[in-house]
Amino acid sequence: MANLVVIGTQWGDEGKGKVVDLLAEQADIIVRFQGGHNAGHTLVIEDKVFKLSLLPSGIIREDKTTVIGNGVVLDPWVLLKEIKQVRSQGISITADRLLVADNTPLIMPYHSNLDQAREKATSNKIGTTGRGIGPAYEDKVGRRSIKAGDLKDVDLLWKRLKVASEYHGFEVQQVFDEIITIRDEFLQYVNPVAEWLNEQTDAGKNIMFEGAQGSMLDVDFGTYPYVTSSNTLAGMASIGSGVPHNKIPHVIGITKAYTTRVGEGPMHTELHDDIGWHLAEVGKEKGTVTGRDRRCGWFDAVQVRKTCMLNGVTGIAFMKMDVLDQLSFIKICVDYIDDTPVYEELPGWRTSTVGMTQYSDLPIQAQQYIDKIEELIKTPIVLISTGPERDQTIVLNNSLF
Ligand code: IMP
Repeated sequence: MANLVVIGTQWGDEGKGKVVDLLAEQADIIVRFQGGHNAGHTLVIEDKVFKLSLLPSGIIREDKTTVIGNGVVLDPWVLLKEIKQVRSQGISITADRLLVADNTPLIMPYHSNLDQAREKATSNKIGTTGRGIGPAYEDKVGRRSIKAGDLKDVDLLWKRLKVASEYHGFEVQQVFDEIITIRDEFLQYVNPVAEWLNEQTDAGKNIMFEGAQGSMLDVDFGTYPYVTSSNTLAGMASIGSGVPHNKIPHVIGITKAYTTRVGEGPMHTELHDDIGWHLAEVGKEKGTVTGRDRRCGWFDAVQVRKTCMLNGVTGIAFMKMDVLDQLSFIKICVDYIDDTPVYEELPGWRTSTVGMTQYSDLPIQAQQYIDKIEELIKTPIVLISTGPERDQTIVLNNSLF
């Protein structure tokens, strides 16, 4: 396996966790490169359910090294809590298998307070996760972030907090005291990782870059302003880790067999009827982080074709196809006239595909649906997921799995 990046091609929640976990088996190092604890990955491994929001998914495989890259905004309190939680589920996490880049900007308590206060006060709600993601990224480009490595030098930390407080108006001593209590515990994970990652890949180790959120939430190419505050596209893997883009040849695009979205903003194929409810119920479409109901709708091939282009997707992992099992017909958005979707209707298969592992076992209508989507998005499907477990998977291209 060569280095690869895994990204969502829709609005996030496509089921990245399962694919990242499958691919992690082949990788030596797993890197997160953007977002923060606004992400939510659920991993089902045998009878254990792991809910991760900040730690790279590879953390649950004890022979892997995981990295939080500089493109992430990192809440150190949340990180330590998540480490504790995963340890309590029997996984060993040591400083040699979790590295945090020293140039990673931190999410501080004033960021989440500001995020939530703004969402309450504004007439233009984004429906953020309230985790301080936007304000932390603003501070990064505003040159007033506290970076992970700043904690090594308390004088520097004090100076940086003072600059931030000139903007935010918090009590420096209070925040300083709060961060000092976790300083030693946190610092054991903090390293200059870009050089190390480049050395590792040059020595033939395989790196998997794990995206969060989805392409339609990208701050440049998403449904602005209803987006997250980071670049979620594959190109960010390079900036957010320090591994140059020409060392990351594969891009796996995670795509759900229908569309979902959490929070505000346009979603042209949204369904407000029984079928929408059916998808939400069968697909268990509740946000991992906030518990909010996800909006559900038909597959938008125009959108996914575009995000495949923007990311340079080399292979699609097609997720949650079994959620469509009981529908008598299925629509695909194939075009737009002004902002109105134009649909093509295909017959449903009305039989369970849960757990299938062979393409040839799928009902003919399911095969037609997949073939149609592949043709419309102009990108090969390399994997079909037929359930949450690792083995509920149809692998169409063995070279990656
Ligand atoms: P923020 O990332 O908390 O600033 O939220 C901005 C938008 O991105 C909101 O619509 C959130 O619901 C959405 N969002 C953030 N993280 C995720 C995710 O992991 N999955 C799906 N939507 C997300």
